[in-house]
Amino acid sequence: MSTAYLNGEYLPLDECKVSVLDRGFIFGDAIYELLPVYAKKPFYLESHLKRLYRSMQQIDIANPYNEEEWKLIINTLIEKSGLNDLYVYIQVTRGVAPRDHAFPPDTPPTVFAMIGAWPKQDSKFYREGLTAITVEDMRWGRCDIKVTSLLANVMKKQQAVENSAHEAIFIRDGNVLEGSATNVFVVKDDKVWTAPTNHMILPGISRDVVVQLMSENNIPFEETAPTEAQINSADEIWITSSTKECMPVTTLNGQAVGNGKPGPLWLQVFDLFQAAKQN
Ligand SMILES: Cc1ncc(COP(=O)(O)O)c(C=O)c1O
Repeated sequence: MSTAYLNGEYLPLDECKVSVLDRGFIFGDAIYELLPVYAKKPFYLESHLKRLYRSMQQIDIANPYNEEEWKLIINTLIEKSGLNDLYVYIQVTRGVAPRDHAFPPDTPPTVFAMIGAWPKQDSKFYREGLTAITVEDMRWGRCDIKVTSLLANVMKKQQAVENSAHEAIFIRDGNVLEGSATNVFVVKDDKVWTAPTNHMILPGISRDVVVQLMSENNIPFEETAPTEAQINSADEIWITSSTKECMPVTTLNGQAVGNGKPGPLWLQVFDLFQAAKQN
């Protein structure tokens, strides 16, 4: 059983216990963060910490630790894991209090963190690509905050699974926003389109990495949401996340994307992404 962290203690994961009155359990009143670790080194640590602090600030949870304390927790879990490649999951809830919607006064947050072995993708998906469906976006209006209340994402991902697809891509008012747990890039006529970072999508760190790589390598792109018509006639579709990195989608709603194979622009960005991991 791997080591986890709960409110100041390092414990085996199965010994971590929180009260049923924890607001994370009762209301989903909590935020989380997930950061990838390659060769024992967190990837884009500063960006993940910045997003973690922002998530807490956006829902009015006072950050319980300073930067050094957060880094110590992350590095201790990496060390204890004995793994080279892994992810660290962090969750902060508004703490334990009698059930009442309003914020409880003087309640310390619950801080939990655990690690997981790196979810290595089956290499056939790099050769053949993934499958996705498009779905209506029925989420709340603050998708930019990394909250644990993910019911809409969970239900749409399940719909994808029931349709033998790997991801559900949210469409709102004809605009392609993001996946249930990924950001989405659409290639059309040698140009890449991805939704801008506003309240309608999670500002993915992997999305930022891909945007940075495209801009450094003169790959034409625009941070404008692709339209439903564009994704339906896309030459390529990619999805990004901290555990998927950048993966090609080659089947959308049962139809081949482009020629049905991972495209050349995806391959270029994928190689750049792999190189960035070595830095
Ligand atoms: C809705 C959503 N969009 C995008 C992402 C990708 O974010 P990141 O690249 O930081 O993992 C995630 C990851 O959990 C997500 O849940």
